[in-house]
Amino acid sequence: MTMMDDATQLKQQAAYRAVESIRSGMVVGLGFGSTAIWATRRIAELLKSGELRDIIGIPCARQTEVEARQLGIPIATLETHPVVDVTIDGADEVDPAFNLIKGGGGALLREKIVAQASKREIIIVDDSKIVPALGTRWAVPIEVIAFGHGSQQRFLESLGAKISIRQNQNGDIFRTDQDNLILDCQFGVITDPVALAEQLNGRAGIIEHGLFINLATDVIIASPNGIQHRRRNE
Ligand code: A5P
Repeated sequence: MTMMDDATQLKQQAAYRAVESIRSGMVVGLGFGSTAIWATRRIAELLKSGELRDIIGIPCARQTEVEARQLGIPIATLETHPVVDVTIDGADEVDPAFNLIKGGGGALLREKIVAQASKREIIIVDDSKIVPALGTRWAVPIEVIAFGHGSQQRFLESLGAKISIRQNQNGDIFRTDQDNLILDCQFGVITDPVALAEQLNGRAGIIEHGLFINLATDVIIASPNGIQHRRRNE
């Protein structure tokens, strides 16, 4: 048996706690990333043991779909199941108002579509992701269509961003599930994420951005001192 490092253990703990909110018969959004995968694995375990039944998974990324199918979770789409009961997903940063930066794995568009279709969006993180303000540590990933992306770069620079075009490990340009590009935009500390999100929403060519405003209903934070479950408006 391989030993799990401390950070991985925290991810697993947060994910397992989130899965406790799932009931048989639910439509469940399956997030993407090294934290959310633990929730998908746990759901598969509980389906196998019979503790959960009749779950339908809505994957937030092609890779999640492949993994969920391999684990034996029944999969559907938002076309047949447009309302999701609970989604469990990770995040790169979480601020005190439950606003998020997401998209470290490049799946931000599908993640946001599924989040907006969800009655409950449970975000699972280890405590390193909790920040006083978004942009403290992480760049905002922005998905742009390849056509005219130089113009989007100029626009984003005019908003104060330092930009790098996301690449794969082999140096090729990263392509999203929709075959678009990701511009990782460092704005520094973002004092007004709502205003920035609105500016980004208004620009043709920007398909989506990694600022998730008002979407998380719950945040589960795992730290060496234990697990905290925070709910919006508590
Ligand atoms: C994927 O596109 C992301 O939004 C992830 O949820 C986020 O990057 C967190 O990933 P980890 O759980 O791997 O840190």
